[in-house]
Amino acid sequence: MATSKQLQFIATDAMALEVREGLSATPKRLPAKLFYDEIGSELFEQITELPEYYLTRTERYILERFAGEILQQAGPSLTLVELGAGTASKTCVLIEELLQRQSRALFYPIDVSPSALEEAMRQLGRQFPSLRVNPIVADYTGGVAALSRISGRKLVLYIGSSIGNFEPQDAVRILRRVRQTLRAGDALLLGADFAKSPKILLPAYDDSQGITAAFNKNILARLNRELDADFDLDRFRHVALWNRSDSRMEIYLESTAAQAVFVPALDMDLSFEPRERIHTENSYKYTDEMIESILRLSGFTLAQTWCDRKRWFGVHLARV
Ligand code: TRP
Repeated sequence: MATSKQLQFIATDAMALEVREGLSATPKRLPAKLFYDEIGSELFEQITELPEYYLTRTERYILERFAGEILQQAGPSLTLVELGAGTASKTCVLIEELLQRQSRALFYPIDVSPSALEEAMRQLGRQFPSLRVNPIVADYTGGVAALSRISGRKLVLYIGSSIGNFEPQDAVRILRRVRQTLRAGDALLLGADFAKSPKILLPAYDDSQGITAAFNKNILARLNRELDADFDLDRFRHVALWNRSDSRMEIYLESTAAQAVFVPALDMDLSFEPRERIHTENSYKYTDEMIESILRLSGFTLAQTWCDRKRWFGVHLARV
């Protein structure tokens, strides 16, 4: 029998269908958007504070250190738009700098999560009385459509290295659609993680406290909670691999034994071989050439790149 909890999940038929498709495929996969339920979002917050996970703090450092230069390059009288803004916690740095250059400013945070946007509104409203915040609840497609209705000179922020979670050809497709909504003088600020030694990358995706493992396994826990599945979490292990030729981190859940799993809500019987993997995420790590190339293919020109001294993370300004 379906409980209301299950209904919440299955109610989004498209999601249930994606789970079914992924678990029927060879090799098996699960959609990465399953990571971010309440528990997963909390675990991800913890990941961003891990000593091994340098991404979030390095990008924040770059924005803090170069906010002045970034806004200088982007041009005068800007309206800020942020794709996938979340609670916009890293954006404050840019807003603070922006309000030193212009007395009033507009900020359009775009995100799928209404609760994250509410939090952004509260924080920003308190911190910046002269900022007008117009939140837009939308996914990528809806968000990009909303972009074209925003007037004034825009700086579109796409930070947090989310671009790395798309296949490069999908990244180009998204950026091209963003580009189509922009006019001469507008700019894009893109945050992306650089390709680097696996000595740095592997621990970032497999930390010593096991938080990343718990985050990855939460997908299976979710299928247990919401689809009544009987995944034995102790018989799957978190695996993070560096694929050098494709320049990406690959994340898997690996079965440690031959085992059967039943997913009642999907009426699915699954079987796993020992060491069989479920693919859950790719995280592309960009070289300068790759950044140059996705921007060029989507109709932008790279104007400037800012990075930390070790060149672990890059923030790129692109013009139309
Ligand atoms: N997608 C983000 C990234 O590539 C978040 C993330 C961090 C992640 N650790 C992870 C996703 C482990 C899946 C598994 O950095």
